Amino acid sequence: MKAIILSGGKGTRLRPLTYSGAKQLVPVANKPILFYCIDNIVQAGINEVGIIISPETGQEIKDSVGDGSHWGIKIEYIIQDVPGGLAHAIKTARGFLADSSFVMYLGDNLIGSGIDTFVGKFNLDKPEAFILLKEVENPKQFGVADVSESGKVLRLIEKPENPPSNLALVGIYIFSPKIHEAIERIKPSARGELEITDAIQELITMNCNVESFVLDMWWLDTGKKDDMLTANATVLDDWLQEKIEAEVDQDSKILGRVSIGKGSFIRDSKIRGPVAIGEHTVIEKSFIGPYTSIGDNVKVIRSSVEHSVIMNGSEISDIERMDESLIGRDVRVFKNMTSHKALRLMIGDDSIVEI
Ligand code: DAU
Repeated sequence: MKAIILSGGKGTRLRPLTYSGAKQLVPVANKPILFYCIDNIVQAGINEVGIIISPETGQEIKDSVGDGSHWGIKIEYIIQDVPGGLAHAIKTARGFLADSSFVMYLGDNLIGSGIDTFVGKFNLDKPEAFILLKEVENPKQFGVADVSESGKVLRLIEKPENPPSNLALVGIYIFSPKIHEAIERIKPSARGELEITDAIQELITMNCNVESFVLDMWWLDTGKKDDMLTANATVLDDWLQEKIEAEVDQDSKILGRVSIGKGSFIRDSKIRGPVAIGEHTVIEKSFIGPYTSIGDNVKVIRSSVEHSVIMNGSEISDIERMDESLIGRDVRVFKNMTSHKALRLMIGDDSIVEI
């Protein structure tokens, strides 16, 4: 079995962060989302992996993932010229996939388990497609399945106006090569994309066996700011391991599960876990509260931060209370001590400032 990970697309919902980088590289608990996908694929015993990239962000993905040796596998990169849809991405990868069965993993999806049991079930039952479903509150935003009482998938619809159920399609699928035949038969959707949901529906129409499994663990589609903060909090809660490699002075207090990387300094500060702090970061006279991830080379001075993500190279100083914030790379947030009352801002396109 092979695997493809979809890391193309435009990432419009995560702007402005995605103006300067791929959304699949946005960190969750200081590790790019895409790395969790690769971990899961490798753990399922798959060692032929293709990553679909776009011409715009592909190089950045190549630079951070490399040739796969970090995971002991070989990774191939497949350029998708335009974001023509998830089924279009499969078409683009046809040469790499040849006639193999394969896992398709959306590079912005995170689940609270491995995928090895699903791969095992696919290999045993040999359906043409194996899909994962999850009950959600907002089915209109996803592909939705209509499932019979006995669990048979009757119909699939992409982002329906009137969802037939609250079972959303999770972005992890397993296919036999029959999917290529179904893709050849579908037409672009109203949003102009070749939808994988339509291709799986086509398999149902062709009387092929489409097996489904309803996830009981968490699933996060990291499309928007609040999704990212939820993903960060969930991963810190479930997977963060305590490890302190930094210098922590005597006036500081570390409480709960906290990881701090090499070369970082904690001075006269209080850190209440779960919190992940990267390398060469300085925290001084500050409070870092639960569910916060702080990247590498960051400075937090005389500030209080909780339930937030601060990416590499940023600087926060004299901020009384920062909560539920997503701060990109090389950003400066500071209090101007001379001109009070006036806000002086330099903010990129599509930013959100809540005061
Ligand atoms: O997250 C689950 C949902 O993913 C499913 O419920 C939907 O049925 C499925 O269509 C998909 O919906 P989204 O609208 O969320 O897909 P998005 O455009 O965000 O793309 C998902 C990933 O695939 C993302 O990492 C970008 C990548 N992608 C996307 C397109 C359209 C590509 O690599 N190439 C593409 O052409």
